[in-house]
Amino acid sequence: MPNESYRLGIITASDKGFRGEREDRSGQVIREIAEAKGYTVASYRLLPDEQTILEQEMKRLCDEQQVDLVLTTGGTGFSPRDCMPEATLAVAERPVPGIPEALRQYSMAITKRAMLSRASAGIRGKTLIINLPGSPKAVQEHLEYLIDELGHGLGILTGRDAECGRR
Ligand code: MTE
Repeated sequence: MPNESYRLGIITASDKGFRGEREDRSGQVIREIAEAKGYTVASYRLLPDEQTILEQEMKRLCDEQQVDLVLTTGGTGFSPRDCMPEATLAVAERPVPGIPEALRQYSMAITKRAMLSRASAGIRGKTLIINLPGSPKAVQEHLEYLIDELGHGLGILTGRDAECGRR
């Protein structure tokens, strides 16, 4: 199934961005890479680092908009306000540990600070939610590594691909 059928929701968590003090380049990087791979951006929101607000937006994207994929940026570090993994795990019905494991393993070859990422991933209904770090550079590195493998997972999740037949 070609990627053009997959609908994407983007969430940027940034207090500074939300207050208009910083341009959201990371959300833009997600949009550019995903659109180049045929995804349709159904929603994009720049929100403050508030767990309740982030949870509400994830639920809206999964339950009302029923996007296939939610990609988040920001809020995965050690700052006291960083709460994206907590929001994600609170709304997820099924954890997806393999994706953040793979992203951290890959990123460790780029910077050992990758061990400081608390990013998580999970499934709510038929939507996959994945946390990416906050910097545009890290978002680009993560997404370019990840995106070609997502189509298969989303195909299985949404029921568009029958089963994983690869041996
Ligand atoms: N992963 C990659 N591939 N490239 C990076 O530059 N930066 C790291 C890490 N993962 C980085 C990366 C750093 S410095 C931090 S603090 C964590 O992601 C969390 O990022 P966040 O606080 O911007 O969300």
